[in-house]
Amino acid sequence: MDKRIAVVTGANRGIGNEVVRQLAEKGWTVILTARDEAKGRKASDALKGRGFDVRFHRLDVTDLQDIRRLADDLSAELWRLDVLVNNAGVLMDEDKRSIDVKMEAVRATMETNFFGPFRLSQALFPLLERSDEGRIINVSSGLGQLSDGGGGYPAYSISKAALNALTVQLAEDLHGRVRVNSVCPGWVRTEMGGRGATRSVEKGAESIVWLATAPTVPNGKFIRDQKEIPW
Ligand SMILES: NC(=O)c1ccc[n+]([C@@H]2O[C@H](COP(=O)([O-])OP(=O)(O)OC[C@H]3O[C@@H](n4cnc5c(N)ncnc54)[C@H](OP(=O)(O)O)[C@@H]3O)[C@@H](O)[C@H]2O)c1
Repeated sequence: MDKRIAVVTGANRGIGNEVVRQLAEKGWTVILTARDEAKGRKASDALKGRGFDVRFHRLDVTDLQDIRRLADDLSAELWRLDVLVNNAGVLMDEDKRSIDVKMEAVRATMETNFFGPFRLSQALFPLLERSDEGRIINVSSGLGQLSDGGGGYPAYSISKAALNALTVQLAEDLHGRVRVNSVCPGWVRTEMGGRGATRSVEKGAESIVWLATAPTVPNGKFIRDQKEIPW
């Protein structure tokens, strides 16, 4: 089989960076993307220095021009794509309530956590369709589970519930031509998760890497620890 190719967003640190490392370690070509050129190059150079096939492309997921440029560059450079990991995310409304959270924070959160993955999935679909195993992995959160009630982080939770809805729509529309799933990494020790989180980045990346690499994976499901969880 050809070398598999993945794009990971928000991969200069945290869970995204660990997903790049684990896929590259398995011999994949990984496009490490980040919105900050210097941080992204530093992260990709560190992995390239270990002999991995990691290539940096700058991408702010809220910037349509960046998304178009990435699609054009990948089309010219690699022709196809096997896996898109929509990992980039922001949490801007800690300790806020839905009744008084600032609408600017809601909009900014939706731009990164929902519209970014939506636009990127549309833009990279033609490349994913050329793969015999195309997959989109939306990095969501248990906080986006409608079945678990609400409370706290309203903008973030709503953005992840919307991302989960996107997973269902895409999976339905693509009829398995590209398999699409949401994944909750658990509570992970990153800048977002904080030092008190219960999981390492290695553990947080595990289900994402499983969805990227397993020979058979579900379609249109919400996954944690390689098992389906309720929406
Ligand atoms: N940590 C947890 O406990 C946890 C739990 C459930 C779900 N998640 C989800 O897991 C994913 C990764 O989170 P993490 O814990 O690794 O967080 P993190 O350490 O805060 O990393 C977030 C990454 O997203 C990038 N990013 C933010 N806005 C972006 C944009 N507009 N364009 C491109 N990149 C952007 C950041 O780049 P900069 O360095 O430039 O800011 C950073 O690389 C997120 O979707 C998050 O919601 C995390």
